[in-house]
Amino acid sequence: MKEKGLKIVTIGGGSSYTPELMEGFIKRYHELPVEEIWLVDIEEGKEKLEIVGSLARRMVEKARLPIKVHLTLNRKEALKDADFVTTQIRVGLLEARAKDERIPMKFGLIGQETNGAGGFFKALRTIPVILEICEEMETLCPDAWLINFTNPAGMITEAALRHSRIHKVVGLCNVPIGMEMGAAKLLGVDASRLRIDFAGLNHLVYGLDVFVDGISVKERLLSLLTESIDTVTMKNIHAMGWEPAFLKALDLFPCPYHTYYYKTKDMLEKDWEASKNVGTRAEVVKSLENSLFELYKDPDLSDKPPELEQRGGAYYSDAACRLIHSIYTDKRDIQPVNTKNNGAIMGIPADSAVEVSCVITRDGPKPFAVGELPIAVQGLVQTIKSFERVTIDAAISGDYNKALLALTINPLIGSDRLAKQILDEMLEVHKAFLPKFFKNRSNL
Ligand code: G6P
Repeated sequence: MKEKGLKIVTIGGGSSYTPELMEGFIKRYHELPVEEIWLVDIEEGKEKLEIVGSLARRMVEKARLPIKVHLTLNRKEALKDADFVTTQIRVGLLEARAKDERIPMKFGLIGQETNGAGGFFKALRTIPVILEICEEMETLCPDAWLINFTNPAGMITEAALRHSRIHKVVGLCNVPIGMEMGAAKLLGVDASRLRIDFAGLNHLVYGLDVFVDGISVKERLLSLLTESIDTVTMKNIHAMGWEPAFLKALDLFPCPYHTYYYKTKDMLEKDWEASKNVGTRAEVVKSLENSLFELYKDPDLSDKPPELEQRGGAYYSDAACRLIHSIYTDKRDIQPVNTKNNGAIMGIPADSAVEVSCVITRDGPKPFAVGELPIAVQGLVQTIKSFERVTIDAAISGDYNKALLALTINPLIGSDRLAKQILDEMLEVHKAFLPKFFKNRSNL
């Protein structure tokens, strides 16, 4: 890696989140000397890329930094000699997400971007595209790090780790950092004094213990959590309180996405109500995005507007920049990321991705040895990992039967009959983004 002048490539650069990332790089410029940022998008995202790219340039200008912002639809041109490649893509755009959310609900099931049937279809659409990016990286920037934010981040990261020849792959999510910020707020301490030992999977991660100045405060945090329902949640998830006795017995700090598993019926009701009133999350985000892009067009705007905080990805630039910074400087601090398990969590395959506290070195994340997860949650984590592995196989092979198997074993579906109905309907609506399935139709 170069000592100076880093080249960062952001695939999906036309995203409304890009100002968040720009702000992160600008804030850290003096520790992380970024020379070039290449924002890459596809033809359908061209207009958004130009709007958000111009804002990115105004932000850099305002900060008086010598960072060159390049906008391109040519991914290969951008990838050449990159140092870090970040991915924030949405194959099929928000329209596909809205279908992932609405269709399962028709069958009385959770429709969510990263969990259950919705997460499954997002994985099927995205994995082949990520593997294509990895293949291009192999030749164009073999030494670069791939930092994946694309959802479902756990499965996408695992697909890249197991099915590409790129080894420098890390998956990143804002959920752990959101939990840290939320816990610090609840406990009334500065986040720098807090440490959480994280272990689990992406969007299924637990805080095994929580420390302030090295002393465990987990018990206190769990009791505070039952009193304050919305401090540790994300904008895209309905805030609902936990039963105090449940949390006490669980004795772990759950992540906001656990509500889909431990409050399935309540979440379904809330999502159903929302879909009839304000729309599904994708539909809400669509109108949020339209107003964000209207703001971004303003030539006098040269900062990240506060309205962006209405999206679920709060703190994501902090997570991304602190990770890139620690890899670049070999900082050896502790951060929760998605990486190869390598025996850290017993009972999860060594080559699978897990979300776990790691020491971040120049050579990548080194996970802490967790051992076995507490028995009350081990089964769920293993079940979801089985689902993820079968889903990845299905996405790569385009095998209908494997897809049906993956959906059926997901606890949010739990019926082969319903799984088949959903699969048939959703394969059809997402056909344009699932070429592997339609080549292999003889599998049926
Ligand atoms: C959370 C998740 C992200 C997800 C985001 C969605 O922050 O951790 O993985 O992308 O929510 O937010 P949105 O505003 O798109 O619903």
